Amino acid sequence: MNQPAPDLTVNESLLEQYDGAVPRHVACIMDGNGRWAQGRGLKRLRGHRAGAKSVRCVVESCRYLNVDVLTLYAFSSQNWQRPRGEVSGLMKLFDIYIKKERRRLVKNGIRLRVIGDRSRLSDKLQGAIAALEAESASNDAMLLQVAVSYGGREEILRACRRLATAAAAKELDPDAIDERMFSRHLYTGGLPDPELVIRTSGEYRISNFLLWQIAYSELYFTETLWPDFNEAELLKAFADFSRRQRRFGKTAEQVTS
Ligand code: FPP
Repeated sequence: MNQPAPDLTVNESLLEQYDGAVPRHVACIMDGNGRWAQGRGLKRLRGHRAGAKSVRCVVESCRYLNVDVLTLYAFSSQNWQRPRGEVSGLMKLFDIYIKKERRRLVKNGIRLRVIGDRSRLSDKLQGAIAALEAESASNDAMLLQVAVSYGGREEILRACRRLATAAAAKELDPDAIDERMFSRHLYTGGLPDPELVIRTSGEYRISNFLLWQIAYSELYFTETLWPDFNEAELLKAFADFSRRQRRFGKTAEQVTS
């Protein structure tokens, strides 16, 4: 997954100076759009619109830095409970994003995949998502996963149901269920787990995001609100990640020897 970057609208002179470690899989909890807008006396949806600009910046910066997988938490299963106008505004924004970014994503070798319960999305949005997933299916420079109508607990339950169904039909021996098999039944089946999870806006929670997959992820929290998150902020997170020692239950001595 190492191709030349064809057409990226990022601050390349800043990004090219970075010489630290780059996580293979980065996952972002994009929080703080509402507060960003309210702080400026604007409607919350204006904050989400500003957040979409940060999405482009982070997607293209990760592409520039050769991240393999970027997963963005755009809308949780619980976000359906928000006021109707905000939900429909966000759905419209996802639709606009797909239309507006389609050409750039494809040209930049980025594959799109949406994870979550897409049956709750409108037929139109489901169609737009499926079309871009198909169009970008052979791209291999980076995988962009967007979690929409997504919940980690819901994802785990879905995997359990699938395995239980197979076991009840005698297609599967319950004793054969191990971590690898379970992982394969998640939306993210077959992908490396996130190495770094970034959450913006000074909240210190996971909020039902990739619960199984982040068992050993490094967590990075910043006060910066998502619409203000840019190349410099991303590099700060990566530099912080570079300083972490990942031990996976072993001792420091074992890891360094
Ligand atoms: C959380 O901030 C953010 C969301 C629920 C929506 C995230 C959506 C975007 C960044 C817009 C575009 C996304 C794509 C993929 C095109 P919040 O509204 O809960 O912020 P608050 O805590 O300040 O209220």
